[in-house]
Amino acid sequence: MQVNGKEIKRIAVFTSGGDAPGMNAALRAVVRTASYYDLHVYGIMRGYEGMIDGDFVLMEKRDVGNIMHRGGTILKTARSERFRTKEGRQSAYESLLAYNIDACIAIGGNGTFTGAHVFSSEFGVPFIGIPGTIDNDLYGTDLTIGFDTAVNTAIEAADKIRDTAESHNRLFFIEVMGRNSGLIALNTAIGVGAGLALIPEKETSIDELVQLLKITAKRKKLFNLIVVAEGNKTGNAQQVAQQVRERIDLFDIRVTVIGHMQRGGSPTFQDRVLASRLGQAAVEGLLQGQRNVMVGWVDNKISFTPLKEAISTHKKPGEQLLRIAEMLAI
Ligand code: F6P
Repeated sequence: MQVNGKEIKRIAVFTSGGDAPGMNAALRAVVRTASYYDLHVYGIMRGYEGMIDGDFVLMEKRDVGNIMHRGGTILKTARSERFRTKEGRQSAYESLLAYNIDACIAIGGNGTFTGAHVFSSEFGVPFIGIPGTIDNDLYGTDLTIGFDTAVNTAIEAADKIRDTAESHNRLFFIEVMGRNSGLIALNTAIGVGAGLALIPEKETSIDELVQLLKITAKRKKLFNLIVVAEGNKTGNAQQVAQQVRERIDLFDIRVTVIGHMQRGGSPTFQDRVLASRLGQAAVEGLLQGQRNVMVGWVDNKISFTPLKEAISTHKKPGEQLLRIAEMLAI
């Protein structure tokens, strides 16, 4: 197997950044596909931290049995500060040399691929990225591994909140994850039939929100759910609730932050299948000469996007989804 003239015999795979349900399924697909093509695979523990420390484990077919349904990542993960330094990356390169690694497969999100891009520009190690993040904020794939599970978790929680909100005639602000992306919030809001989603990509001012709420109060609708993305520009759920309380006294307001619950749990079938497709395509892509790209799923097909493009282009929520949310709002 040749990649740009260099034979690929040993690959390393790791998970990095925030964990996402389905990362284990992706790992399983990578290891099993590599084994199909007689490649040696090393798993790197704790992402770039383990790469720096030389924490590598040989992985064979059977080592990835019985992990498909498990949330989290058996390779563990980290947000590595040391990898941001030149010395850290130099140590990581030395570890790869010590294990004779020809190419790396990184399962993670934006931060992971930014690290991969910098590292491969410095040391020439070929990388393939597999998008694994609940945020679904990567350009070059319609879906990231973990997003479907996270939204389902958020919807399940929000459905329960709806029961108590309706019983007490309360207005709930429900905060979901997404520092820079409103995709979890928007999809949760549509899925749960919430009154509104407050997302970073489409600012709703507190004035506008208060106006909308006054209209619903006039209609005697005193219970409502508003889904707030963590990165909403007018504030997180607590802050927005506080600003509304200071302006109007029409509602009994409560706040729920769903938090890290969204990151755990058994992956949905969508995430398991997506992870299997992307893991398999990452290894085959590498063998067919792809390098420094992210493998993605676009319009029901595998596609490869340069890492540089994937990390520098912001994926916005589709116009249609925004319109649906607007039309179905309070
Ligand atoms: O990137 C995934 C994510 O869950 C974001 O939605 C969230 O803002 C962030 O990670 C939280 O990171 P941590 O678990 O490191 O606090």
